[in-house]
Amino acid sequence: MGANPLTILGIETSCDETAAAIVRGVPPGPGTILSNVVLGQIAEHSPYGGVVPEIAARAHVEVLDDIVARALDEAGLGLADVDGIAATAGPGLIGGVMVGLVSAKALALAAGKPLIAVNHLEAHALSARLALGCEFPFLLLLISGGHCQLMAAEGVGRYRLYGATIDDAVGEAFDKTAKLLGLPYPGGPQIEALARTGRARRYALPRPMLGREGADFSFSGLKTAVRQIVREGTLGAQDKADLAASFQAAVVDVLADRIRAAMQIFRTEFGKENGTRRFVAAGGVAANSAIRKMLDTLCGAEGFVLSLPPPALCTDNGAMVAWAGLERLSLGLSDPLDAAPRARWPLQQADEPVQNTISRLGELAGL
Ligand SMILES: Nc1ncnc2c1ncn2[C@@H]1O[C@H](COP(=O)(O)OP(=O)(O)OP(=O)(O)O)[C@@H](O)[C@H]1O
Ligand SMILES: [Mg+2]
Repeated sequence: MGANPLTILGIETSCDETAAAIVRGVPPGPGTILSNVVLGQIAEHSPYGGVVPEIAARAHVEVLDDIVARALDEAGLGLADVDGIAATAGPGLIGGVMVGLVSAKALALAAGKPLIAVNHLEAHALSARLALGCEFPFLLLLISGGHCQLMAAEGVGRYRLYGATIDDAVGEAFDKTAKLLGLPYPGGPQIEALARTGRARRYALPRPMLGREGADFSFSGLKTAVRQIVREGTLGAQDKADLAASFQAAVVDVLADRIRAAMQIFRTEFGKENGTRRFVAAGGVAANSAIRKMLDTLCGAEGFVLSLPPPALCTDNGAMVAWAGLERLSLGLSDPLDAAPRARWPLQQADEPVQNTISRLGELAGL
């Protein structure tokens, strides 16, 4: 490509992590992470067993200035040294998204830098390019707290859905199962740790959608089956470990089956143009080591090259937001200072302009 590298500040506040990072590079990557500061809010939310939106938004307000200052300090840069300021503009908890986006607007205005309003799911999707550098197209598995989908990623802003969950996201299933087992929030890493000492064959849990046509997922039946077992009797420590292991094994089986189906679709669509078939996993649940191991085996067997970001870039972070901003700015894409935050923003619509309904209302009112 030969382009000059860009340096971008990225801000992430869409859920319960307040994060800022500085990333430098040229697409398709890999990029250099000059700093990556992530502050979780586990202590604030754990009494409630899940994220409380109002508490999350207030916590972001309290710490974001400091987190941005730390990201700049650790990178040894000032605001004048960055080429643009990126922030998650959705999807996510709207209060938190507003905090990050409005801060990014203020910084962009003060420093005279372009603003890049990033789709959080696109930030996950492009994290493998940041970490490893990989060309489009690739088959993308996005597994996180709010999403579970398989897509063809054809370029920045160009994603086509192959399949998605028809009920719970896989991260949600991990979190709800953890809650049923009395484990603290967030549940995914807790289940993974407990499963290490459990027997995966102990409980025969359902594998929803296995063998179905298409590449959709379903996880609510699995969660219900766990709930029934929990209700049937008191579980001892070993029982809980066995149930965690059985649950994780069922998730792994369902994911493998649905991915295999999506690989077939991808092969048909991209078989001729591309010698290397690439598979990318992203999102918090892609940090799970049993899932990572399955992906490695599956990709080997199916003739796909696996590009897996390291676990710290799978869960929410500012570096992936900075990188998504960097990718967009490299293409000449930036956003106006009235860009609107969005609670919902499907990845298939990542390239649609971020329309500000409030300023449009202002226009209509003649303001
Ligand atoms: N090791 C792990 N094993 C399983 N699940 C995990 C692991 N680590 C994190 N998770 C799960 O990942 C989810 C958080 O991922 P992420 O931060 O990407 O989600 P989110 O930002 O809340 O949702 P989204 O990206 O869909 O908006 C949680 O459900 C958490 O339990
Ligand atoms: Mg996320």
